[in-house]
Amino acid sequence: MNTYRMHLMLCAGTGCVSNGSYRIKAALERELARRNLEEEVAVVTTGCNGFCAQGPVMTVQPEGIFYQLLTEEDIPELVEEHFLKGRPVTRLMFTPPAEEAPVPKMSDIGFFRKQRLISLRNRGLIDPEKIEDYIGRGGYRALAKALTAMTSEDIIQEIKKSGLRGRGGAGFPTGLKWELTARQAGDGKFIVCNGDEGDPGAFMDRSIVESDPHSVLEGMVVGAKAIGASHGFVYIRQEYPLALERLNVALGQARDYGLLGTDILGTGLDFDISVHRGAGAFVCGEETSLIGSLEGRPPEPRIRPPFPAESGVWGRPTCINNVETWATVPAIINRGAEWFSQIGTETSKGTKVFSLVGKVKNTGLVEVPMGITLREMVYDIGGGIQGDKSFKAVQTGGPSGGCIPASLLDLPIDYERLTEAGSIMGSGGMIVMDEETCMVDLARYFLEFLRDESCGKCTACREGVDVMYQIVADICAGKGREEDIPLLEELGHAVRDGSMCALGGTAPNPVLSTLRYFRDEYEAHIKDRRCPAGVCKALITFRIDPEKCKGCLLCGRDCPQEAITGERRKPQTIDQEKCIKCGACKDVCKFEAVTVQ
Ligand SMILES: Cc1cc2nc3c(=O)[nH]c(=O)nc-3n(C[C@H](O)[C@H](O)[C@H](O)COP(=O)(O)O)c2cc1C
Ligand code: FES
Repeated sequence: MNTYRMHLMLCAGTGCVSNGSYRIKAALERELARRNLEEEVAVVTTGCNGFCAQGPVMTVQPEGIFYQLLTEEDIPELVEEHFLKGRPVTRLMFTPPAEEAPVPKMSDIGFFRKQRLISLRNRGLIDPEKIEDYIGRGGYRALAKALTAMTSEDIIQEIKKSGLRGRGGAGFPTGLKWELTARQAGDGKFIVCNGDEGDPGAFMDRSIVESDPHSVLEGMVVGAKAIGASHGFVYIRQEYPLALERLNVALGQARDYGLLGTDILGTGLDFDISVHRGAGAFVCGEETSLIGSLEGRPPEPRIRPPFPAESGVWGRPTCINNVETWATVPAIINRGAEWFSQIGTETSKGTKVFSLVGKVKNTGLVEVPMGITLREMVYDIGGGIQGDKSFKAVQTGGPSGGCIPASLLDLPIDYERLTEAGSIMGSGGMIVMDEETCMVDLARYFLEFLRDESCGKCTACREGVDVMYQIVADICAGKGREEDIPLLEELGHAVRDGSMCALGGTAPNPVLSTLRYFRDEYEAHIKDRRCPAGVCKALITFRIDPEKCKGCLLCGRDCPQEAITGERRKPQTIDQEKCIKCGACKDVCKFEAVTVQ
């Protein structure tokens, strides 16, 4: 076997692949061959490294040097300078927003420094398509331990003691769910991995499956032994082709290695997993809808109880857990409940993966200990707000989460604190907003999504969310009435209490939380017919400040309506009759002469 002096861990997650990772790989292999370095330097394609906005990214091991925004043209210089002559190429390194010089090592970059990887423990360190890489990092050791040295009861107690709570949104204690399913009489029980991930902008689960599929499979086999399940399903959306491909590769390898199928590791455990592709509806992630979809019925939620633990897939006891929950299980079995429960807060143990997006400088996927503050997320990991604008709010919990304002930036993130603040943990979406975000328009956007995604089965959700959407859309369109605010609050509570599943149960959150913290914005829209953030088109007017305008004519050239006129080197004017408020003039103006009122 060859021993390489360097491993080039090139990200081949969806983000980096779409930015050309495979072209970089080919260029690296070509250049390494030309320099006779193929026996000394190995190129390894890994799953998502988390810093997708900087992709394609690559970490050089063992030094840990991090390269970003790579192009094919960079490769000859990189190979000659760094891999041949030992001089790392500074211009391809990352310069954090607050610093002037590039930071060579990944571990010194703020985006990575505060992260603690448990679910993503193998991120960037293995080739997800090689089971040997997973085993080399301690993979399937938890399975061997659970199957040979622990009883089902031991496993359940270990997971209970760890304090692990489901990462799919509701935060239900995982060990307790396993215990409830294990207690049901009879055989033919099922376990399900929920990889539906319908939140817009969220990619936590996709990334785990793409970068480390065996961690999910291993967790599921451990769960199968604990619960007494004979078959498992991974429910994953069709729009995740790379995750599906890697999952299927991993399943084949696990079967070849005797880690799935009959008599696993000679212990008498029979268990296999099949993949079920979802067509991509948000409600399919709700566990009872998911069961319907798995069985070939319409994906509509049903009243619980009975809970899936009692009556799930084809009426059999079924334990449904999220991708991240399953991926965390092997780490707990390996390192013990005590280790895990020391991380996090009193009620929320361990770490959580978030997709940090929006107006922060560093966007991407991060795993952090529970209890980290929003400030640390936004400023230390996210690097602060783009364009040094001011922070306005963060939306957590996906479309049915809530907005948390700047006054709560020091809020520690855990299930209870987020709920008290009017939001939810959800599955880990985190959208950061700056002063230019209109909170009323934001509530309108999420309500529109939820209205479209409501399955329509129960009246409260189907009609209630639609009416709330119409009211908020009217407010944005300058047609708001003073009675709309109390009406929205009343409707919000009725929809929350009267809906059959948590889609409707949480759908009012964006409105209720923005009313709680940003009521003045609603009032400005309704009473003053003004959008303070300058977003709602019906309530804004673009004007050109004659003092600042230099008459460069750029705005007129970019205006799709030919609404801007004026002579060169003289102040321009906008014909308000023609203006469609697209903002092209503001975007192109170098003198900040275009104002929004
Ligand atoms: C509208 C809706 C969508 C959901 N989508 C997901 C999802 O995409 N993935 C997920 O794991 N859980 C989702 N859930 C939560 C599931 O119903 C269920 O609680 C979860 O899969 C249980 O796993 P856990 O205990 O590991 O979190 C959703 C719930 C609702 C109400
Ligand atoms: S896809 Fe490469 S860093 Fe996320």
